Amino acid sequence: MNQKDLILIIDFGSQYTQLITRRVREVNVYSEIHPHTISIKEIQSLKPKGIIFSGGPMSVYDDSAPSIDPQIFNLKIPILGLCYGLQLICKIFGGVVEPALNREYGKSVLRITDNSDLLRGVEDASVVWMSHGDYLAGLPSGFKVIGESDHSPFCALSSPSKKIYGIQFHPEVAHTEEGGKILHNFLFDICKCKGDWTSQNFIDHQIELIKSTIGSSKAICALSGGVDSTVAAVLVKKAIGENLVCIHIDNGLMRKNESEKISNLFDEKLKLNHIHIDASEKFLKNLKGVTDPEQKRKIIGNTFIKVFEDEASKIKDARFLVQGTLYPDVIESIPVKGVSATIKTHHNVGGLPEKMNLKLVEPFRELFKDEVRSVGNKLNIPSEFINRHPFPGPGLAVRVLGEITKEKLEILREADDIFITSIKEEGLYKSIWQAFTVLLPVNSVGVMGDARTYEFVLSLRAVTSVDGMTADWYHFDHSFLSMVSSKIINKVKGVNRVVYDISSKPPSTIEWE
Ligand code: XMP
Repeated sequence: MNQKDLILIIDFGSQYTQLITRRVREVNVYSEIHPHTISIKEIQSLKPKGIIFSGGPMSVYDDSAPSIDPQIFNLKIPILGLCYGLQLICKIFGGVVEPALNREYGKSVLRITDNSDLLRGVEDASVVWMSHGDYLAGLPSGFKVIGESDHSPFCALSSPSKKIYGIQFHPEVAHTEEGGKILHNFLFDICKCKGDWTSQNFIDHQIELIKSTIGSSKAICALSGGVDSTVAAVLVKKAIGENLVCIHIDNGLMRKNESEKISNLFDEKLKLNHIHIDASEKFLKNLKGVTDPEQKRKIIGNTFIKVFEDEASKIKDARFLVQGTLYPDVIESIPVKGVSATIKTHHNVGGLPEKMNLKLVEPFRELFKDEVRSVGNKLNIPSEFINRHPFPGPGLAVRVLGEITKEKLEILREADDIFITSIKEEGLYKSIWQAFTVLLPVNSVGVMGDARTYEFVLSLRAVTSVDGMTADWYHFDHSFLSMVSSKIINKVKGVNRVVYDISSKPPSTIEWE
C-alpha cells in the first residue's frame, strides 16, 4: 500500500491539540501529534505533506517557552501556525509579538483582506474563536496580512513563497464558523492531500500488516467485552483466522447478564475462537474485607493477570498478545507543570507481555475511540454493541463503595439495569456519554407500608463528555428521575433512597472510586 498522506501536528501544549488532530482526520487525512522537540531527521523520515503548529498556554518570551528547530522552515513542507504557533513563527522570522492591552478571549470577527490562498472562499466577517494574551504587533519579513480582527491587525498571515501560514484564532473549535473551510484549504489546496484515509483503507492496511507480523504463529487476546478489545479481536481474526485465541475472564464484577450476553455475541455473531473463564469466586475471595479503592484496583489487576497467565500458558505456540490500546494512551504529550499525581490507577493488562514473553499487536495505537467505532461498524459488529457507554476495567467494584459482597453486587446490578433500561426507553442513551448507579456504604431510614426500613442509599450518575477527561452531569427531566427513583425503590430489595449526582469533572471524577 502507498504511504498514506500525513499531517504532523506539533504540540506546544494547547488544550486543543487532540481536537486539531481529529478535525484533520475527520476529512480523511491522517494526522499525528508530536512534541515540539521532534528532530528534523525524524520529520524528514515521516515525510509529512504538511505541518500544523498547535496553540499553547505560554508567551513566546517566557523563559521556558517551547520552541522548534528553525530548520523546519527549510524543508519546503507547508506549515500552518495556530495562535501560539503563529506567534512562534512570527518571532523566528523577526516580527513583533507583544502582550495585548485588550486580551482576546472568545468570539471575534475575522475581516478578510486577501483571499488568494489560505482564506480562499471563506465568508467575510465570520465569527472566529480567540484565546490569546499576546498579539502580533509587527509583521515578520516575507509575510503578508490576509485577515484582521478588531484587536489583531495581523490576525491571519501568509507567505506563499515559503508556504508558511498562520492564524491567531482556533479553526479547530466549533465556534469558529469557517474553521472547517480554512483547514480544508490548507490540507487540500496547499498541502495537496488526497483525503483517502478511510476506515476501509485502514482495515485493509492493518490486515496485511497483521498477517505479515504474526505469520502462522498464534495470538492471544484478552476480551473484556469492551469496544476496543472486541473490535481488535475481530480485525485480527480477519487476518489470521483461528490462530487467534480469545480469553474472556468473568471477574464477577460485570453488569446484569453481561457475561452471558457478550459470550453469545462472541460465539454466535462474531464467531470468535474464545475461551470463557468464570473466575468470579476467585476475585470475590481476594476482595473480601477490602475497602480502599486503590487496593481494590490492585487486587483486581493482579488477580486478572494471574488467571490470564494460567489460561494463556495452556495455549501452545502463542507468540503475540493483541491489545486494544488507543492513540490517546500513546501520545507523547508535553508535561504540564504540577500535574503528576495519580488520580486513579487504571486497570489494564500492560504488565502481561513482558512476563509472558509475548510480542504486542496493537492495531489501534493510531486511533481515537470514535475511529475504532467506525472500524467496528465497517467490520459489521452490531451497532448496539459498538455504541455502548464506556465501562471501567474493575467493573462494579468501583461502584460498590466500601467492602464488596455478592449481595451488594446483586443490588447494584438490578438498580443499574433499571436505570439503563429506562434511559434507553426514553431514547436518551445516545445523548449521554456514560450512565450508571453507585451503591453507597450508607444506610438510611425509610418507611415502607407501616414498617420502618434501614437500607442502602443508591446514587444515579449520568454525564456528558467527549473523552472522559472532563464531564458535566446530565440534565434529566425531573419526572424521569422521579420515575426511576420509584422503580428502583419498589423493585430492588435493599435500597430505600435514591439520589442524583450533580457534580461535574473536575472537581469530581466520573466514577465515585
Ligand atoms: P474517572 O472516574 O477517572 O473516569 O473520571 C474516567 C473514565 O474512565 C473510566 N475508568 C476506568 N476505565 N479502568 C478503565 O478501563 C479503570 O480502572 C477505570 N477507572 C475509571 C470511567 O468509567 C470513565 O469512563
